[in-house]
Amino acid sequence: MSYRPSSGSVPARRTVSWRPGMCAGAAQALAGFLRTTELDAAEASEHADAIEQLRAGDLQAIIVHRVYAPDVLATVVARLERNDPEFLQTWFPEKFHSWFYGRNLNLSDARLPGYFEEAARFHAQLEDLFPPGLGIARHVGELLSRLAGGRPFVPAPGPLPGTEYMFTTLRAHAESGYLPAHFDNEQRLRPSYQHLRTLVELNMLSFVLVLAQPETGGALEVFDLCVEPQDARLLSDDSVKVRPDVSRLESVSFSLPAGTLIVLDSGRYLHRLTPVQGARKRWTACSFMARARAHAATYCWG
Ligand SMILES: [Fe+2]
Repeated sequence: MSYRPSSGSVPARRTVSWRPGMCAGAAQALAGFLRTTELDAAEASEHADAIEQLRAGDLQAIIVHRVYAPDVLATVVARLERNDPEFLQTWFPEKFHSWFYGRNLNLSDARLPGYFEEAARFHAQLEDLFPPGLGIARHVGELLSRLAGGRPFVPAPGPLPGTEYMFTTLRAHAESGYLPAHFDNEQRLRPSYQHLRTLVELNMLSFVLVLAQPETGGALEVFDLCVEPQDARLLSDDSVKVRPDVSRLESVSFSLPAGTLIVLDSGRYLHRLTPVQGARKRWTACSFMARARAHAATYCWG
């Protein structure tokens, strides 16, 4: 397949770096293509159609500040640094210098052996990690719900009654850690997605909640390249030979502060994580989401 910029032009490459407050008020088309809005978590209910706009392609990114207070995150990250409370640790491919707490569905074995037992334990540990009443699945799920007119955002149900997918994973990107450019919709091609794809619509979104920022680098860079869900191909795989030439694409670079969350049309828009620089890790919680086929809910998984 060929890859073309969504705007139809082939410009000399230009990167716009997002700065806090740049998209407050009316949505801005950053770098001419990425329509972005920016708000405070406390005003989420006033943006009840934001997720729908994202799904419709009228918005590509929603930035939400102050999802957690700095003192809460300082305690959380100090515990993550010493792996308290003994999370399941799994790894990205070695060259990415990055790992998860929890198990990323994308990188899981096709038959998901032990996954749902791990998910139950992981959810209990996530509850323990945050102060009472601020557990990430409920706190962030309710925030997203307010951006979607009150429709629920919940962990995707597993194949057996009472089981569910991990709502999120926690990610640590160490120095020089990065992720190559990809579309999240490639996930539906993975064998581990076989059951989940029967439950949800084709296009997926994602959120990234920054828990700790690296010293420099570690930016989420989104390119002016949009591919419809049915056309997504595996790109985050070494065997892929034909890749988009990102040196020809305009892009927007997000270095988000701790406590800020971005919801991105990452299923359709090409994006990558630029290399982390400095000794401080980039800690995030990252989830994928898609509308349930049978319910007025959005299912989330990590
Ligand atoms: Fe992604």
